[in-house]
Amino acid sequence: MRLWGTPEGSALDPAFERLNASLPFDRRLYPHDIRGSIAWARALARAGLLTPEERDAIIAGLEAVKAELDAGAFVFQPTDEDIHTAIERRLTERIGPVAGKLHTGRSRNDQVATDLRLFLMEAWPRLDQGLRGLEEALAAQAEAHLDLIMPGYTHLQRAQPIRYAHWCLAHAWAFERDRARLRDAYPRLATLPLGSGALSGTPFPIDREALARELGFRSLSPNSLDAVSDRDFVAEFLFIAAMIGIHLSRLAEDLILFASAEFGFIALDPAYTTGSSLMPQKRNPDALELARARAGRLVGHLTGFLTVLKGLPSGYNKDLQEDKEPVFDTVDTLEILLTVLSGLVRTMRPRPERMRQALEEAMLATELADYLVRKGVPFREAHRVISELVRESLRQAKPLSALPLELMRRHHPAFDAEVYTILDPEAAVERRSIPGGTARAAVEAQIQALRACLDRSFQESLSGARPDP
Ligand code: ARG
Repeated sequence: MRLWGTPEGSALDPAFERLNASLPFDRRLYPHDIRGSIAWARALARAGLLTPEERDAIIAGLEAVKAELDAGAFVFQPTDEDIHTAIERRLTERIGPVAGKLHTGRSRNDQVATDLRLFLMEAWPRLDQGLRGLEEALAAQAEAHLDLIMPGYTHLQRAQPIRYAHWCLAHAWAFERDRARLRDAYPRLATLPLGSGALSGTPFPIDREALARELGFRSLSPNSLDAVSDRDFVAEFLFIAAMIGIHLSRLAEDLILFASAEFGFIALDPAYTTGSSLMPQKRNPDALELARARAGRLVGHLTGFLTVLKGLPSGYNKDLQEDKEPVFDTVDTLEILLTVLSGLVRTMRPRPERMRQALEEAMLATELADYLVRKGVPFREAHRVISELVRESLRQAKPLSALPLELMRRHHPAFDAEVYTILDPEAAVERRSIPGGTARAAVEAQIQALRACLDRSFQESLSGARPDP
């Protein structure tokens, strides 16, 4: 059974049939398709297009088809072009010609857009939860090691000391922004296209508000032509996911470096590393490498799908069938990555002695410049003076703190004995007590602020961000 006829005697070329079929991937939409169809049957009955008996027969039939699909007992036919066709074909087999009334006033164009939105509306809180889990793990690391100081890097060069907790939270805030993006995009996602028909709206008196309420949508698409063309919600989702992927790859790259023998700042739990088949001494950070690599795949889905959209005329075009595979793969990729990285971060152990060893005194050169600034020296001049002293210390192969005071005073008269108290990483970190800084109190405030964000569930934060209409 097809939803449309072919000219007499003609059949589809088998290879084209394979190309055209979306069933191999869109069968995943079946729970949403059936939910949408049940709501549609109710809407048709409310509009007087189905008798209560017809409505109930259709709903019972759809539920039975769903049970077959749930149980894996549903037998797909070679002519099932997509999941919508397959479900309607099976419904007809089960309840007879009354099944033919279900598609009244509806098109697969508004149906498929509705299904995919429902799929993502369900995935959204799970992804939020996945991000939350990773942020929790980072926050727990921060809390457990609040006084641990490590080198902070720019250009991957030792720059200034920071708290390990500050590094953990830097990553957590990036994921918190991703959560905010999900929240912000949700009202646009939860916009109901059903009732748009093929493109011009349905001619029957369907109560779209009631449909939206029943299916959990927050608003109605304001234009039927836009509704069937619109895949912004897919592109936005793929962007958010790509951004999450990039944040994950940055975290992964930091940790790959930190877990290496050269840095040695972090010990990864063996549950997240693999051995080498050749070199018995090695533990490889495969989980992190795969996270870094999968970011490429997520970015690929975004650029690939934007390219599908580019140049499409308005209205439904078969190109849009290509939206599903990137969406499904993106959801699956994010779920596995967030789960694995949460576990990896929760179980990793910082190595304080290695962090301490890496805190070379030269990283406090900025502190010396700031010390001169506090004595009234213009920063540019202070910077030049300290650069000279750093070169001097390199020449003499001595730390800055071993340079005698009279030598320092030859470079600038503002130096006094206090200079030797400046060269302490703990003190340097504690001077950064401004909001967002790396001092203990500032980091504690960050943790508190982050915890307040994490305490709110997706639903709560949604209504906080935008009141329900
Ligand atoms: N399988 C199609 C898709 O995923 C369903 C919509 C088909 N609509 C049409 N006019 N052929 O996009």
